[in-house]
Formats: sequence, C-alpha cells, structure tokens
Amino acid sequence: MSTVSVFPIVSNRKKITTISLQQKKLRGEHISMLTAYDFPTAQVMDQAGVDAILVGDSLGMVVLGYESTLPVTMEEMLHHSRAVARGSKSALLVGDMPFMSYQVSVEEAVRNAGRFLQNGGMDCVKLEGGRDRLDVIRAIIRAGIPVMGHLGLTPQSVNQLGGYRTQGKTSQAAQRLLEDALLLQEAGCFSIVLEAVPARLAEYISTHINIPTIGIGAGSGCDGQVLVTHDLLGIFDRFTPKFVKKYAEFHVDMYKAFQEYIADVQSQQFPALEHSVSMEEGEWQEFLRNAQAVMGEQVPVALR
Ligand code: KIV
Repeated sequence: MSTVSVFPIVSNRKKITTISLQQKKLRGEHISMLTAYDFPTAQVMDQAGVDAILVGDSLGMVVLGYESTLPVTMEEMLHHSRAVARGSKSALLVGDMPFMSYQVSVEEAVRNAGRFLQNGGMDCVKLEGGRDRLDVIRAIIRAGIPVMGHLGLTPQSVNQLGGYRTQGKTSQAAQRLLEDALLLQEAGCFSIVLEAVPARLAEYISTHINIPTIGIGAGSGCDGQVLVTHDLLGIFDRFTPKFVKKYAEFHVDMYKAFQEYIADVQSQQFPALEHSVSMEEGEWQEFLRNAQAVMGEQVPVALR
C-alpha cells in the first residue's frame, strides 16, 4: 500500500550523526531536537526535518502518567525507543538513560547504554549529571557509544535539588556548571543539554566549549533547542513550564473531537453511508433465503 503525504516532506535527507551536529555548530546553524515516544510522531517530525529525536524519560510523565521520571524503567524506554526508531529515517536518535540504569555501577551503565543501540534502535544515549558521572560517561564512550550530557535542572535528581527549579543562578553555582560542561567535553560527550539555567550563563557556556549545547529553558544563546513534544503540542495539561512555547492546543482539539464522536455515535450520525461497506443485491437476497432456513421462525431481537 502506498501512502501519499499532503505535506512537503524534507526529502533525500542524509542521516544526521553526532558529527553533523558538530558541523552545524561550526557553521553557526541552530540544531532542533524534539522528544518522541511513538511511531507516528517520530515519522512526522522526521519528515518535517528535525535534526534529533530524543526518546526522553519525560515519557514517564507525559505518556505513562507517572508523577515524575523516577519510576521509568529500561524496559519502558526500550519499548518506546523501538517504536520511534521504526518511524524515523534521518534524525539522530537519542535514548535517554532512565533513573538507576547508570547509577549503580559502571558495568551496568555500559550494558544498559548498549541496550539502547542493540535493542532500542538508538544512535546514542543521554544521561544526567556532571563531575559525578565522568567514570560512567568515559566507559560508555570507550564502548563506542556516543554520549549526550545533561546539566542544570536534572529531573532525576529532583529530590536532591528540592524541586524543579532553575539552576546556576548564583556565581558559585554558575561556576560549577561551567566546570561541569568543560569536564563533560573533556570526557568525550558530543553534546550537552542545558536545562533551566539563566540565558546569559547558557550562552557563555555555549560560546566557550567546542561541542554543541542544546537548551531547554536556557535562552536563545545555545547551539540548539529541545522541547518536550507533548508540551509543544499542548497535549500534556498537568502543568506547562514557563519556557515552553505551545504551537498547538491538541488537548482541547482532542477533547472536542472525542465529544463530537460520542455525540455522532449517540445520534447515529456516524457511521454514515460513506463509512459503510455495501453488499451486492443478489448476494444479499441469497443470504436472506439461507438465513431464513437457519433461523426459522425466530423473531428478530429488535422486535421482541
Ligand atoms: O526527558 C526529556 O524529555 C529530557 C528533555 C527535557 C531534555 O530530558
């Protein structure tokens, strides 16, 4: 079955790699990244031309309904990674390592990172943390797996950070963030997500390290931007962070569509003739004759 798209698909796109992102930074071109957790969403954003797709552990909150990202498991991440990989042809695919998949031991971290590539169809992994994660990051990279770092607001440490709050606001905290970014670069990360940090700090870090930074709530001075797609589309309505720009109101649109459907079913407006399959008259008459023989004098349920 062939599919015809009404949208101008970004055709003949070459596969985006970690090197492509580095080259974009050198050319001063901004990198776009979005989260996806399923096949159709990944397919549409890949066709639209996004540079990178992150299968984020935000999955836990925006798709699975958990209160935080902490309960997300490797199995859940791999299940959704595979769906995204089936939908994407060109974008760089980043698998987000969930809580406790890289904190227990270096060996376990390398094994779990490997599963994202072997069983999840991802191209690389992302993990949260700075100086405390260097041994793990180095070991994963030694195993041939590219690593994207994540600094600033690191949601897996929400209990340590005392809530989802902006990071790096004091000169000391900003200094620490800069040092962490330099350490991640030295350790071999190909890129770093900067989440919820002051815009001027994010810009300073971005212009003083060689690898691309991808900002979320970190202003326009980063080398790229990422948003949680369910925030961008207005699907997730539990709360919307201040830094989100909503490009659609899907929650409202979905609600209206579901209400309309329910009303149509109740009023029998749906299915209409064009949604139904017809049957040739001769076949129908023969069916009725045969059915009568089988059913005998039984009164139809509707007439009882
Ligand atoms: O899990 C996620 O979606 C993320 C982004 C917010 C960067 O880590």
